[in-house]
Amino acid sequence: MASLLCLFFLSSLALIDHRHRQAFQSLFGPTFKSLPSRRRYTSSMPNHEGIGSMEASLERARANIRRAVRIQGYISQKEQSFIPRGEIYRNAYAFHQSYIEMEKRLKVWTYREGERPIYHDGPFSLMYSIEGHIIDELENSNSTFIAARPDQANVFFLPFSITNILRYVYRPFIASMIPLQTCTTDYVKLILNKHPYWNRSDGADHFMVACHDWGPYVSYGNPKLFKNFIRILCNANSSEGFHPDRDATLPELQIHDRRLSPPDEEEEPPPKRPILAFFAGGEHGHIRTLLLRHWKDKDEEVQVHEYLPKGVNYHATMRKARFCLCPSGAGDGRDDDDEEKGTMREMEEEAFGVVVVGWGGEGFGLVGEDILRRMVDGGLCGGGGGSGDGGWRYEVASPRIDESLYAGCVPVILSINFVLPLSDVLDWSKFSVSIPVERIPDIKTILQSITDEEYARLRSGVMQARKHFVLNRPAKSYDVIHMVLHSLWLRRLNVRLPY
Ligand SMILES: *[C@@H]1O[C@H](CO)[C@@H](O)[C@H](O)[C@H]1NC(C)=O
Ligand SMILES: *[C@@H]1O[C@H](CO)[C@@H](O)[C@H](O)[C@H]1NC(C)=O
Ligand SMILES: *[C@@H]1O[C@H](CO)[C@@H](O)[C@H](O)[C@H]1NC(C)=O
Repeated sequence: MASLLCLFFLSSLALIDHRHRQAFQSLFGPTFKSLPSRRRYTSSMPNHEGIGSMEASLERARANIRRAVRIQGYISQKEQSFIPRGEIYRNAYAFHQSYIEMEKRLKVWTYREGERPIYHDGPFSLMYSIEGHIIDELENSNSTFIAARPDQANVFFLPFSITNILRYVYRPFIASMIPLQTCTTDYVKLILNKHPYWNRSDGADHFMVACHDWGPYVSYGNPKLFKNFIRILCNANSSEGFHPDRDATLPELQIHDRRLSPPDEEEEPPPKRPILAFFAGGEHGHIRTLLLRHWKDKDEEVQVHEYLPKGVNYHATMRKARFCLCPSGAGDGRDDDDEEKGTMREMEEEAFGVVVVGWGGEGFGLVGEDILRRMVDGGLCGGGGGSGDGGWRYEVASPRIDESLYAGCVPVILSINFVLPLSDVLDWSKFSVSIPVERIPDIKTILQSITDEEYARLRSGVMQARKHFVLNRPAKSYDVIHMVLHSLWLRRLNVRLPY
């Protein structure tokens, strides 16, 4: 009887009480002062005897962050190479302290189960490449965030690549979510049966990373299993099951030939930017349809193209524009040379998940029938589970946002319910403009009404913010990979677990 009670007690603690899920990132907002007082905050915690040493460490991190916010200052004595300051941060003190705490305490364990290339591998180039780079950083680098042993970890990574599942399992391509859901659900079931960690938290300290549009569908087939699971997704549409307190947005980056950092050519300063607004890209998604219908090849100042005219360079044009239009939807408009044309075809194929047998040559031999067979025998990608077709939707993210920051061009966000990347920390209104989709016809008047003074502020915000969108391998402090880990860290701080 006693042991039964004990079991019940443990399992009920392990369940996340959603009413008490702390939106820890709300600390970063200007509304912090109206948050519950410290006393109330403490009383909503499970009693201290229920907290293990891992949680105690996170509790200290939470307290330090709250303290930095309270005193509006920096409490760390440590010499810092970079201190976030300025209005692009929702709360620079909270962020700075939180980042320091993360460096001290965040430890990620990556499960070893599964075979490449579906697991432990991902794309390194093109639009979804951030998927592969994060998997690689967490598995094959000397990152200090990697836990040496699983019992030292406070978060657990499920290293499947949605892009690779689409590439290698969908042959021939079918518009069904079932194989995708099977590969991922089976993986969870495998690790949940083999290791104690998933059950201990009911998945709340476990996460995935996906840039492919289909990332969100992973959890549609089994909502109960994935209820607490942290999903870091490029396709972050808050009307399609993305919960900003639990999930985080992954910045979508366009990487060519494994070149990582932004082009370091000096971008044009504001006076030399003769184009008011620029966009080039395919008609991918309904927002782009609207944009192209109103503006395609119609205006000298608002330059909107489906495909770039011959001889016009995409990045160079971005560097000449004051504003870069970033409508939701992937697919790219650069068409200035053959190499890029080829890239473009691949990107569209990836974007649509269209995988044709034999496409691309190399790579297709990688998942031979033997590997797939072994996966199925090993309980992966084979069983039932998963259900239905989620319906066809376009993604909300676009690599253009990052490209525009790299080019020193102020992004204009044209989207519906897109949760902007790193918006837990960054105040996008200080370095971008959001125009509601209904006002697409007014783009020109809206952008023209922004004064030179306002523009200079937005642009200086762009120059500050882009540091956080640069991809380095190995990752560096405050770059995009570490910022994504920081988003993860905040989601982890949102829950209290009894270990
Ligand atoms: C990790 O560090 C070791 C020792 O310094 C070095 O030999 C190795 O190349 C590093 N690995 C990576 C992936 O950077
Ligand atoms: C975790 O829970 C599931 C479902 O209750 C159970 O089947 C599984 O054996 C448990 N895993 C471990 C490692 O005990
Ligand atoms: C986000 O999802 C909603 C609901 O499905 C949809 O109406 C909206 O257009 C989506 N946003 C984008 C940019 O596709």
